[in-house]
Amino acid sequence: MSQPKVFVTRKIVQAGLDRLQNEFDVEIWEDAAPPSREVLLEKIRGCHGVLTMLSEKVDDEFFEAAGDQLKVISQYAVGYNNIDVEAAKKRGIAVGNTPGVLTNATADMAFALLIASARRLIEGDQYIHNGNWKSWEPLGHIGWDLEGKTVGIVGLGRIGETFAKRCQGGWDMKVLYTSRSPKPEAEQKLSAVRVEFEELLERSDFVSVHCDLNEETKGMFNAAAFERMKNDAIFINTARGGIHVQPDLVQALKTGQIGAAGLDVTDPEPPSLNDEILQLANCLVAPHIGSATTSTRNNMAEIAIDNLALGIDGKPLRCSVT
Ligand code: DGY
Repeated sequence: MSQPKVFVTRKIVQAGLDRLQNEFDVEIWEDAAPPSREVLLEKIRGCHGVLTMLSEKVDDEFFEAAGDQLKVISQYAVGYNNIDVEAAKKRGIAVGNTPGVLTNATADMAFALLIASARRLIEGDQYIHNGNWKSWEPLGHIGWDLEGKTVGIVGLGRIGETFAKRCQGGWDMKVLYTSRSPKPEAEQKLSAVRVEFEELLERSDFVSVHCDLNEETKGMFNAAAFERMKNDAIFINTARGGIHVQPDLVQALKTGQIGAAGLDVTDPEPPSLNDEILQLANCLVAPHIGSATTSTRNNMAEIAIDNLALGIDGKPLRCSVT
């Protein structure tokens, strides 16, 4: 019997590739850069399943191009703002993602950005590499303390809460949060306090974004939001670049409206080399690597391929977003 036809939009970890080769009639996009839209629409034609990354726009046009046999979209990420889930539902196409397994890695990344921004690590590293370090400097490279500060977490889901644990347990920070619904357990365990967005901005020394990108959160960190923040506040975003308005963030960092930023996500992604966000000493930018640890990526592959196989068989997915 012929195997189901599958397209995978980027190379993933080897264990995942081996399994894909065994279980499906698979084509894997080998380039580091995603396929162009035109090529993507061509490649998915006749597929029963597609394993997507967050860079692929999955919408009606995509479904039309794939054809009626398409059963499942398996996203190799927890976030799926690139997928029109309603359009998939209408067509009876299952959509899966990879929640849970990247919680620790992403929370660690947010903390790495926070401590590296607070202690100006990248600036220091560049200073040495540029040959500027002459002697121990009593006034050089002075940063921020973390102990006992107030951290504001926007979106206290799995990742937000895990980040909060690190801040509260390790550095004795006070935790403020915003969330669609109250989180009584986190309030109890972490003494976290749910506040309005504006209050969180005004009271927090560090603000970290852990919510989904959707119509409600798109651009919520704009000039007005940055204006409410403390002048020495540090802004961390490991969620999606579209949640901040990048020109407004650049302005806030340039004018000293806020102190520093650590970003694992940008808008657009990647930014062009002359994007001002890359020219600022007080902004640290990483290439969207929150989930980039060996075990996390292996676990993501396992869930994504399970989702693919189950969806093609018409069974409930291991992790479904529909
Ligand atoms: C996700 O899973 O949504 C991350 O942004 C990429 O791993």
